[in-house]
Amino acid sequence: MATKQPLVLLVDDEHDLCVLMQMTLARMGIKTHIAHHLQQAKLFFSEHKYNACITDLNLPDGSGLDLVKHVTQNYPKVPIAVLTAYGNMEIAIASLKAGAFDFVNKPINQQHLHQLLTKALHVPLVDYSEDNLQLEHQLLIGESKPMLKLKDTIKKVARSQAPVFISGESGTGKDVVAHLIHKLSNRSDSPFVVINCGAISEELIERELFGYVSHSFAGATQDKLGLIQSANGGCLFLDEIAELSLTTQSKLLRALQEKKIRPLGSEQEIDVDFRIISATNQNLEERVQQGKFRQDLFFRIHVMDLHLPPLRERGKDILLLAEHFIKNICLEWDIPSKELAEESKRFLQNQSYAGNVRELRNMIERAITLCDGQIIGLEHLQYSQKRNFSAPLVEAPLNSESLSNTQESSNQIPSEGLEQFLEKVEKEVLLNALNQTHWNRTLAAKKLGMTFRSLRYRLKKFGLDSEDD
Ligand SMILES: Nc1ncnc2c1ncn2[C@@H]1O[C@H](COP(=O)(O)OP(=O)(O)OP(=O)(O)O)[C@@H](O)[C@H]1O
Ligand SMILES: [Mg+2]
Repeated sequence: MATKQPLVLLVDDEHDLCVLMQMTLARMGIKTHIAHHLQQAKLFFSEHKYNACITDLNLPDGSGLDLVKHVTQNYPKVPIAVLTAYGNMEIAIASLKAGAFDFVNKPINQQHLHQLLTKALHVPLVDYSEDNLQLEHQLLIGESKPMLKLKDTIKKVARSQAPVFISGESGTGKDVVAHLIHKLSNRSDSPFVVINCGAISEELIERELFGYVSHSFAGATQDKLGLIQSANGGCLFLDEIAELSLTTQSKLLRALQEKKIRPLGSEQEIDVDFRIISATNQNLEERVQQGKFRQDLFFRIHVMDLHLPPLRERGKDILLLAEHFIKNICLEWDIPSKELAEESKRFLQNQSYAGNVRELRNMIERAITLCDGQIIGLEHLQYSQKRNFSAPLVEAPLNSESLSNTQESSNQIPSEGLEQFLEKVEKEVLLNALNQTHWNRTLAAKKLGMTFRSLRYRLKKFGLDSEDD
């Protein structure tokens, strides 16, 4: 904690409620001051050094939101949480956007208050240390203008409890950013639990998220802790959130609003405290308009919005990243480090990178494999490009004509048997689609007329899923 006995300001015009909170906080060893209106709260702030503040939203002389803005601007290190009427998500979200650290539903649940203050009073201890600055530069490479702006936002976002939504094309670094936010947050000592919503079948995902009790369905021989519960105290990263079914979306929304879950087959609700980070490479707003994603959940997870720009818009970062990958891969493979020839640098700077940072990393990895000497030349980079990305991005004939070419002669009976032959053809078609889309799996799935989930399943089957997923 920041001081031996932390000091918290409680702002509410209901005297009894303040006294009740004061007693709860006193049991936690926290000293409190009480203000009954906005001006008094501002005055108290100018006179005392608070470690945290909890304010009601409806104050006799103004809105608690004004206090949130005032504190965020003038005392940026002091976490301020708001008290909201139960279920009023819009106001809760507006407060988070205004800079509130978190919110507590009324009537106040003592356990929530305890959790909130434990987190709030740790906040000033994180974020500003040299270690964390180091961490940020080690994990997220990039000095271009949009990346510096993003890093700045990440630092702010990391301090809050608000849900974070990360968007960006495939391979732009959404996983990296989610990890970084967790590491820089006051939850970093607690678990960071990742669930890839696109990789798990609809039937399984609810069991995974909420857990179950034994005998809740055939095969449930013992209780299983859900991922939300495993993330208790920490972060739950829902990757590819656009893939969640509408039913799971409603259940997730409830868990987020009420901070409670009920495992499958259980009568009991369990309190959970987790921060949600979600990501997608799809246009979630469009899915809301199409009725495929709940609007209320969209607003709930979308409080802090981070967008990762495509690599082609990051200028000098391309070379920074390339050099970072060369250094790391050589270290990992225990070989002497290599350098890029000048013409290789120019070449790398001129690519369009539909597969973004992942494509650049793959290109560098292949070039290192091919380069025996110390200098990575154009031939090493172009070779890998020729082999993997030579197909034009325009629609290519992924149709019966191209298949019959692959087969050479469609009226022959394949010697390896039908199953194996079909698998060979399937793999080839998948690879074609992936190469044509520079390994952008969302685009490839679209081209192949299949769902993203189904493509992922097939890639796994053929061992074509990239190792960083
Ligand atoms: N700024 C960065 N600095 C260092 N490595 C990065 C950066 N951005 C991405 N990477 C690396 O690029 C690869 C792809 O990144 P990541 O998995 O985070 O992308 P993504 O946006 O989550 O992609 P997808 O939408 O396909 O899930 C990973 O190997 C990651 O470590
Ligand atoms: Mg990802």
